[in-house]
Amino acid sequence: MNNNKLLIVANWKCNPATQKEAEHLFVSVKKEIKKIDEVETVICPPSIYLSLFKQKVIQLGAQNCFWEDKGAYTGEISSSMIKDFGCKYIIVGHSERRGYFNETDDEINKKIKSILKNRLKPIFCVGEKDRDSFDSEGKLINEMSFIVSEQIEKGLIGISQSKIQDIAIAYEPVWAIGTGVPCLPDDAMKAALLIKKTLTGLYSREIAERVKILYGGSVISQNAIDYIKEANMDGLLIGGASLNASEFVKIIKRVII
Ligand code: PGA
Repeated sequence: MNNNKLLIVANWKCNPATQKEAEHLFVSVKKEIKKIDEVETVICPPSIYLSLFKQKVIQLGAQNCFWEDKGAYTGEISSSMIKDFGCKYIIVGHSERRGYFNETDDEINKKIKSILKNRLKPIFCVGEKDRDSFDSEGKLINEMSFIVSEQIEKGLIGISQSKIQDIAIAYEPVWAIGTGVPCLPDDAMKAALLIKKTLTGLYSREIAERVKILYGGSVISQNAIDYIKEANMDGLLIGGASLNASEFVKIIKRVII
C-alpha cells in the first residue's frame, strides 16, 4: 500500500437537489471528522455548490472538467476555473460520464493533461462494464484485465513519469456501481495488481508503487475496511453512501481502526 494517508472520496454525483440540503450534508460530515487526521477526506459535490464549501477540514474536488482553460465552449467548466475555486482533485473518466455522455479515452486523456497542467490531482476512474463471463464454448467474453489496462494506457498517453504520482486511479467495476453488489475484496486486489503491472509497463515499478489506487462500487460502512485491509487499497471512492452523513462518517471511522 502507498505510504501516505488513506484517501476517502465522496462522489455526490448530481445530488442533493438543493443548496440547503447540500450545506446540511457538508456541515454534518465536517463536524464529525474535524479531528480525524489519519485520512484525507475529499468531497466532490456538483460544481455549482463548490463555492459554498471553502474551508480547511475537507478537501474539495470536482466531478468533471473541460480540457481547455477558457473559450467558446458553452456549458463547460475548465480545470483552471476549478482550481480557482480552491479544489485539489477532479474525478475524471467516471463510468457514468463514459456511458451517458459518451466520453472517450482520448477526451479523458485531454482532461487528465489539463488537470495536471493546472496542478490539480486527477482521480482517474477505470473499470469493466460486466463481470467476467464466458460464452457457450467457454471463451472469455469480458476480460477485466484487458479493459482496465487499455483504459489506463489510453488515458495516460503522453503523461510524463514526473506527473504520474499526482494521479490516483480508482478501480470501479461498472457492475458494482450503485447496485449494492460490491466487488469481492480479492477481485479488487487482483485489479489493483493489474493496475500496478500496467503502470510498471508504462513507467517503472518504483513509479507504479507511488500511485494511489482506490476502490469504488457499492462501498458501505460494513464492507469499507475489507478493501483497505484485505485488498490493500489506498482509499475509496464512495457514491450513494456519501449522501448519508452518518454512514459516510462511519466509513471514515471504520477504516482508521
Ligand atoms: P456507489 O458509486 O458507491 O454508489 O456504488 C460509486 C461511484 O460511482 O463512484
